[in-house]
Amino acid sequence: MRKKIVAGNWKMNTTLQEGVKLAQEVEALAASVSNDALIIVCTPFTHLTEVKKSIKKVKLGAENCAAEVSGAYTGEVSASMVASTGAEYVIIGHSERRAYYHETDEILAKKVKLALANNLTPIFCIGELLSEREAGKHFDVVKSQLEKGLFDLSAEDFGKLVIAYEPVWAIGTGKTATSAQAQEIHKVIREAIAAKYGKTVADNTSILYGGSCNDKNAAELFANPDVDGGLIGGAALKAESFITIAKSF
Ligand code: PGA
Repeated sequence: MRKKIVAGNWKMNTTLQEGVKLAQEVEALAASVSNDALIIVCTPFTHLTEVKKSIKKVKLGAENCAAEVSGAYTGEVSASMVASTGAEYVIIGHSERRAYYHETDEILAKKVKLALANNLTPIFCIGELLSEREAGKHFDVVKSQLEKGLFDLSAEDFGKLVIAYEPVWAIGTGKTATSAQAQEIHKVIREAIAAKYGKTVADNTSILYGGSCNDKNAAELFANPDVDGGLIGGAALKAESFITIAKSF
């Protein structure tokens, strides 16, 4: 059975103290969420250990991890380091990492394997640029990202992942994909997973929508049969709006 998930991606926001306060507020409000949605906060590395102490119902994730195991990689944070904080999830392949830090499909494939080896659940992001959508290439782009980043995994390992579809043109822009656009491409993504790993694995994979998802539009997006929740940026920085999204199933 696939899970309903609302994951916050805090990005490079909040000091440690602000982050702990936000986590405490999210945890307090999470008690009022009566559906079975999984609520996750993905925080900066510096916050993981302290945020972990402030949450119980809410689960913890990182926003990235290194593509190497350990050693002379100044400034990097490994998957085992992330796991040692008590985090259970890690965002991999966010479009900001792909675009600004030149993370290729090959690098992301390594990160996914290291995350899985450390019992972290990757939240693997895919999504097209505006130019790619305008050229009608969006289905091909997400299929290629899936194939190059993930499709050498075993079915068992693939079954551990969460996928987040985030059209780059909708991230932080206030321009959300329409409900119909989200459903259309989520269905294509699920079909691509089914073609590779079979219908059971595809049916059990949670596919989240991300990109200007907020407390006003979440319910309409989540009502789609192939949209299993959201990866939330801006609206995750306010506990009330984030928890309203978690109640939108
Ligand atoms: P946004 O970000 O909700 O602020 O558009 C989503 C994301 O980048 O994960």
